[in-house]
Amino acid sequence: MKKQKNKVWGERVGKSTSALLQQVNASIDVDKRMYKEDIEASIVHCQMLSKQKIITSPVAKKIIYGLKKIKSEIDKNKFQFKKEHEDIHLNIEKRLFDIIGDNAGYLHAARSRNDQVVTDFKIWVRNSVKIIDGNLTGLIKSFLKKAEMHMDVIMPGFTHFKNAQPVLFSHYLLAYVEMFKRDKIRIKNFLSTIDESPLGSAALAGTSIKIDRKYTATKLGFKKPTENSIDSVSDRDFAAEFLFICSLCSVHLSRLSEEIILWNSDVINFIKIKDSLLTGSSIMPQKKNPDSAELIRGKTGKIFGQLFNLLTTLKGLPLAYFKDLQEDKESVFSTFDNLNLNLQLAKELIDGITPNKEKMFEAASMGFTTATDFADYLVKKGLPFREAHKKSAKLVNYAEKNNLNLEDVDLDVIKKIDKSIDQSVLKVFDITHSVNQKKSYGGTSSANVMKTIKKYKKLFK
Ligand code: ARG
Repeated sequence: MKKQKNKVWGERVGKSTSALLQQVNASIDVDKRMYKEDIEASIVHCQMLSKQKIITSPVAKKIIYGLKKIKSEIDKNKFQFKKEHEDIHLNIEKRLFDIIGDNAGYLHAARSRNDQVVTDFKIWVRNSVKIIDGNLTGLIKSFLKKAEMHMDVIMPGFTHFKNAQPVLFSHYLLAYVEMFKRDKIRIKNFLSTIDESPLGSAALAGTSIKIDRKYTATKLGFKKPTENSIDSVSDRDFAAEFLFICSLCSVHLSRLSEEIILWNSDVINFIKIKDSLLTGSSIMPQKKNPDSAELIRGKTGKIFGQLFNLLTTLKGLPLAYFKDLQEDKESVFSTFDNLNLNLQLAKELIDGITPNKEKMFEAASMGFTTATDFADYLVKKGLPFREAHKKSAKLVNYAEKNNLNLEDVDLDVIKKIDKSIDQSVLKVFDITHSVNQKKSYGGTSSANVMKTIKKYKKLFK
């Protein structure tokens, strides 16, 4: 029987691998993206083996020399990745043998690809989530800038997509800032949850070789080593959580996109979008379409899909390592790519929109949006709110019947609604006044909004 000399496990597995299995098994096309993390972790592992006198210092030096050379080869696109060597770990190991000879064989003491892959992947996710965090800050800054530029713009706030109450456009934008701020907090918490190094868990049981896991954990930037070797090699919670964080952030982006698409419609016409963020139609000469926002919304589906992809892979999977887990990286990598593009494009979109101030103000005056202000006026005069609500509804009914806005109803008519009403009621129907009276904490008054912008400009530098 022909031995598979070329395989690290070729001594044991007799027949050469079926071409089909080789194709399905090879993950190199995907996991080569972790070459930096793999080499970083291997160098630290090697330094630890040398410190613990498990390997000699000259051997360690050779190994580290070889690993650095491999990194520079890959950096320069001079490395030949081979499917027959399955994954990034074995591709690098094989090349290490080419460069330094049999001394390369000392590196794999006290580790397995099982702890190797999860260590690499955790480091990759940790670095990547920080890039997402940076892009979130960039987007938030654009919101703050836009809000500050258009402090005087008033628009209708909606519930059920019916005009509800007038709000500042800037306040509306800051609502999105809150969502992205929460995404950043989620990332911060995530970074502290995943702060444990799995390296040294080996295949699943740990090792009898006297390694120093605290040393490798610290050197790789983790707070401490993981507690249980079995969990360490089977845990992909961090990948699922990463995908959830990305999914929720995508929910926020897709809600924003939807608003932009609606606002940009000819029917609503609340904003203008810069031409560079629009596309045309191949048949309708007049068209300018907000594809940028539509694509952000569209890619959200893909991102959710990857979360469910991984959750389904993990569901019911016994301990510890199974090859199923190899499928985790594609989900995470593609989600990272899509979300990053989406975040950057969303930033361009926010930079590229101009509110149509007149149109927004006009819309804010439609639909009796100060009816609650009138009810509140009556409450301040001593009426129970439920009664005030009824009286205000009566005024709305009158205005609607007579085809008037609330501010156009005759003072004498209004006065008849309740004896407490005097001349001062008239300002209640003024949209700008309405907005600026909303001084409760977190309300839409310009004083509040300006304070928040100032605070957040310091927070998101
Ligand atoms: N390429 C593998 C993965 O991504 C590495 C771990 C392989 N371990 C094993 N026991 N075959 O999961």
